Amino acid sequence: MSEPVNDTSKKELCLSGTGVTKVFGFGNKKTVAVDHVDFNFYTGELISIVGESGSGKTTLVKMLLGLIGVSEGEITFMGKKRDISTRSKKKEYWKGIQAIFQDPFSSYNIFHKIDQVLLDCIAMRGGRGLSKEKKREMMVEACGFVNLKFEELSNKYPFELSGGQMQRLMIARIFLLRPQILLADEPTSMIDACSRATILDMLMGLRRETGMMIIFITHDIGLAYYLSDSVYIMEHGKFVESGSADAVILNPKADYTKRLISDVPKIHEPWDFSKKVKRARVAGNEA
Ligand SMILES: Nc1ncnc2c1ncn2[C@@H]1O[C@H](COP(=O)(O)OP(=O)(O)OP(=O)(O)O)[C@@H](O)[C@H]1O
Ligand SMILES: [Mg+2]
Repeated sequence: MSEPVNDTSKKELCLSGTGVTKVFGFGNKKTVAVDHVDFNFYTGELISIVGESGSGKTTLVKMLLGLIGVSEGEITFMGKKRDISTRSKKKEYWKGIQAIFQDPFSSYNIFHKIDQVLLDCIAMRGGRGLSKEKKREMMVEACGFVNLKFEELSNKYPFELSGGQMQRLMIARIFLLRPQILLADEPTSMIDACSRATILDMLMGLRRETGMMIIFITHDIGLAYYLSDSVYIMEHGKFVESGSADAVILNPKADYTKRLISDVPKIHEPWDFSKKVKRARVAGNEA
């Protein structure tokens, strides 16, 4: 493990974990997906967790969100040991922590119209008793934030939207929910480069507006460098290195980090999405 990520004297610890572990299955079918990870995430930070496919990123996100149990270890939220032992405690926890996932299609209840999806968010923030007009105003504002028109979405189901529109609707949900922590698990991996830049822009706008902490999960160490304050590198369920984005990426210590970096040419240059697409195409042609 590397040094502590930040100067802890000025920042408020928002989410932390010690020895957090997830084991799936038993006996010779056992998979240790997340293996005794320690982390300290501070209010307002943008953190990236970077690792290759199967390194345990999504499993960690699901544990942080409380969708799956922790096999071992402890998670602390806003200074207290996390307690999500009952449904109402879990609901309370989810006011503070929310996620957007890789596959927007899996993230919605397909039987709920978009109006209901957004009204549920308002209700979750204690707005159930607001007037119809006020609720509508809030939904219009949230859709406007992500360049969607509420009138065009009203009465539709999420599956009637494109992938990019669905991701934007997810961000509109977060706009209404205003959690302290947003877990963003590869939110742009299924959309084209142009929508990808827009989605990232919107996430950064949301962060500026609300001050929320974002934990960004990605394969892409170049993107992590561009976006983050702190970076955690994950390999086979373990954090092999962590620190400020500059420390980890400009001065990597773990061999695994060095290998991830060597896969990204010119990492120190500003992010350029068009190049990224070109590289992906070239790689596709070579395969
Ligand atoms: N429900 C499950 N039951 C059994 N094994 C699982 C389960 N979920 C994940 N795993 C295993 O845990 C390991 C980590 O999976 P995980 O989905 O967390 O990886 P990831 O880093 O998110 O990968 P990707 O970048 O492809 O999304 C993998 O070996 C996977 O097969
Ligand atoms: Mg994953």
